[in-house]
Amino acid sequence: MPAGTWPEARKLPMLLSAAIAAETTSPLHSRHLLVKCAYISQTRGGGMAAVLRCMECGAEYSLGEIRYRCRCGGLLDVAHDLGSLRVSRELFEEREAGQGPEPWRRSGVWRFRELVLPVESQLIVSRPEGNTPLYRSAALARWVGLEDFSVKHEGENPTGSFKDRGMTVGITWAKALGAKAVACASTGNTAASMAAYAAMAGLKAIVFVPQGKVALGKIAQALAYGALTLEVEGDFDAAMSLVQESCRELGIYLLNSVNPFRIEGQKTIVFELIQDLGWDPPDWIVFPAGNLGNTAAFGKALWELRELGLIPRMPRLAAVQAAGANPLYRSYARGFAPLEPVRAETVATAIRIGNPVSFPRAVRSLRWTEGVVVEVTDQEIMDAKAVVDAAGIGCEPASAAAVAGARKLVSQGVIKRSERVVAVLTGNLLKDPEATVSYHAGKLQGIEPRFANRPRRIAPSLEAVAEALEEGRR
Ligand code: F0G
Repeated sequence: MPAGTWPEARKLPMLLSAAIAAETTSPLHSRHLLVKCAYISQTRGGGMAAVLRCMECGAEYSLGEIRYRCRCGGLLDVAHDLGSLRVSRELFEEREAGQGPEPWRRSGVWRFRELVLPVESQLIVSRPEGNTPLYRSAALARWVGLEDFSVKHEGENPTGSFKDRGMTVGITWAKALGAKAVACASTGNTAASMAAYAAMAGLKAIVFVPQGKVALGKIAQALAYGALTLEVEGDFDAAMSLVQESCRELGIYLLNSVNPFRIEGQKTIVFELIQDLGWDPPDWIVFPAGNLGNTAAFGKALWELRELGLIPRMPRLAAVQAAGANPLYRSYARGFAPLEPVRAETVATAIRIGNPVSFPRAVRSLRWTEGVVVEVTDQEIMDAKAVVDAAGIGCEPASAAAVAGARKLVSQGVIKRSERVVAVLTGNLLKDPEATVSYHAGKLQGIEPRFANRPRRIAPSLEAVAEALEEGRR
């Protein structure tokens, strides 16, 4: 398919709306014109400029081209002309107050818009997302072994995960490109987020999920928000290759994190986290790593902040993988050896990924930031989740991997007890009620429920209540 065109719609299945077919055969130049207008009106006067640039060979493409990879196969970055940007800490501080009727004015993504995507305001599809809390818990810090430990809760985004930050940008750009249908492969959160944002934008959403391996809350969201939900008989990696082929052949816009515009939105987790800390960067940022979109985004965010002089030094990144889904860890342990895909299995279904798409970008991020990769067992993940939950904060299993990883790195002496550490909690507790309830009931296979809080069934009498209280004290 030539870049910048929607392919023939001949293979489009009947179940996709006729509108998509109409779109794929409509004149190409009108779409380019729209993108050009959306973009150029921002560049005028502001001097903003951005291109798509291949991270492997440096080839450049215009932002309005519909392409996810370079001709050489390399992954693409949205490369901003940092020298021409007029941004400052003060500008972002001013915008934090977020006044005005449009949702994007209250968005923790679009506050940093010059560093995200130069696009006309009226095109922005925003919930609004971001502005997530940074929690501190003395009990949690003690358990991890640190004096200064906080968690940035991305599970408190509109659809309950960090994906909303990339999706507001991805859907906004899909609209600007004139797409009528968007698709993604997903372990659940991307699907939920894309389904919601697509519904708000009036786009058809198609999600490819691994059959039987998506947490209940996420599948419920995809269905409820009206996405065509395809349960692929295979794992996430199979769904991922199928969605890429489908988008190529059927003229659907791909919204996985291979899409560089998604990465631009996810960078704002780091921008906002550092703003939360008064622009005094922490020593470490610790986070779970699956398809490696966040690993890619966080490194790019830090590199740009430093280039712009907005931070004096870069924090180190610590990417945490589940031991049963650890291709990045394996590569890291062998001095960043080439990726060898694995067959993934973990209780943390969000990161049950064996062949991560953003691997080269992730390695770049880790090199830029003197980053490390650590693996944690399912037992360590569920222990950490129980502690995060019992602190009143709560998160889904994959997010708890970040806390388990921080604890492990402290115990290994990689993170010093005196260092300032922020862990990113990527998803909400309510995403995976099955994992939580099974854990507390002692029914999670292979996991010892060390911090179980079992429900107690009682007779409807005061004596039974008193007895249960007495038992609880023991
Ligand atoms: N945490 C949660 C809760 C996730 O949903 C994901 C990824 C990750 C961590 C890993 O982030 O892929 O950027 O390394 N979920 C994707 C999805 C794969 O389809 O929802 P990553």
